Amino acid sequence: MVIAQAPSSSQPSSSRSAPAADDPALVGTPPMGAFWMPFTANRKFKQSPQLIVGAEGMHYRLADGRLVLDAIAGLWCVNAGHRNPRVTAALKAQIDVLDYASNFQSGHPAAFELAARLADFAPGDLNHVFFTNSGSESVDTALKIAVAYHRARGDAGRYRLIGRERDYHGVSFGGISVSGIGRQRSTFGPLLNGVDHLPTTHDPVRNAFSRGEPVHGIEKADALEAMLVLHDPSTVAAVIVEPVAGSTGVLPPPQGYLRRLREICDRHGVLLIFDEVITGFGRLGANFAADLTGVLPDLITAAKGLSNGAVPMGAVLVRDGVHDAFMHGAAGSVELMHGYTYSGHPLACAAASATLDAYLEDGLIAQAAALSPYLEDGLHALRGLPGVIDVRNLGLLAGVELAPYAGGTMTRGQAVAQQCLARGVMVRAVGDTIALSPPFTISRAQIDEIVDTLRAAILNTVDQPSA
Ligand SMILES: Cc1ncc(COP(=O)(O)O)c(C=O)c1O
Repeated sequence: MVIAQAPSSSQPSSSRSAPAADDPALVGTPPMGAFWMPFTANRKFKQSPQLIVGAEGMHYRLADGRLVLDAIAGLWCVNAGHRNPRVTAALKAQIDVLDYASNFQSGHPAAFELAARLADFAPGDLNHVFFTNSGSESVDTALKIAVAYHRARGDAGRYRLIGRERDYHGVSFGGISVSGIGRQRSTFGPLLNGVDHLPTTHDPVRNAFSRGEPVHGIEKADALEAMLVLHDPSTVAAVIVEPVAGSTGVLPPPQGYLRRLREICDRHGVLLIFDEVITGFGRLGANFAADLTGVLPDLITAAKGLSNGAVPMGAVLVRDGVHDAFMHGAAGSVELMHGYTYSGHPLACAAASATLDAYLEDGLIAQAAALSPYLEDGLHALRGLPGVIDVRNLGLLAGVELAPYAGGTMTRGQAVAQQCLARGVMVRAVGDTIALSPPFTISRAQIDEIVDTLRAAILNTVDQPSA
């Protein structure tokens, strides 16, 4: 993994850690040209690359030897801390026993055991697990299951999918079709047929500086009722939303909004999918957003925190009724023509099972819940700083939104993120919102460090840097 932009010598620099000359982590710069980096300004990055060469607990080690506090858990995934000892030990043990086994018409025990554990971990009757390797694959799998479910029930007229503005659902054609981020869609059109989008719930005029789920906006769910009427509900297969839209700036759902979506879906026989790739596995201080809100979707898409980022893994959790609709037909026939070579990979199963141990036996999800008011108080204290126009948070997930610069080559968000990195804390700029999602192993002192660093960076970026 790589991060953007080395700090220039004029920027403040983290004082922790001087690299030893013989430190094996200190590597030279590798050849940069061949790797086409994802979601990256490749040409800019490669002019002054800053590589990450190691990690432990709450920290990354950069190639220049500096340690930086990871305030975003890698990419919203390393919830149990970097190189979590349980995960590391499980991976080492697994590779000595079984490297790979297909789960197509064969199987290995760890996949079945993990699925059973996940069914226990998930709310309600989400008792069935389809393994994937990423959030994007989980979304595509869930959309396909939704459409195929209606067909399996003899209701083949339901094919439409409804997403929402500002939601991110990964990069597959299915995912970008239901996603609500114009720039990611427009390059690849015309995308899937029969997709529509609900309005975003984001309402800064009424909800700025909300703590937790904002008060205003339940009525935004009523757009679904109108949309179903417009398209004829009997043509609609599923609605997919992120309970908290993460990648477009951390947008918690208005109070009662998700429940109302559930009620409308139920009235019209439409499946409800929660994309919990970010919010799942404790990020909100509960196992899933579905647990926190008490709203049970028909399918949950998951990835990231499932395997603590150590090995790629995703999963779709499926309710009994949806799963059971497929379990008929000739004995020996394949019920769902779908799957990945690496669905339920042994190493991913080992990592995920050990991660579950960390969440449950080490009490990390309870720890996330206990720490979230402290993070909330710290970040809301930034209100009033120049250009801070909103602070939003739910669980250990938060966004600090900044007024944009008038123009120029760098956004205010990028400027603040760069300043934070130079001061020893890695945050993520999504547009002009600074997103925070630290590992649950964070201490209160480290939360203070994040808040203090952010404050200094915000104060230091009031003036737009010249190009
Ligand atoms: C809500 C959500 N869904 C899907 C994805 C796609 O996951 P991946 O990048 O693992 O394909 C992401 C990634 O950030 C996400 O946040």
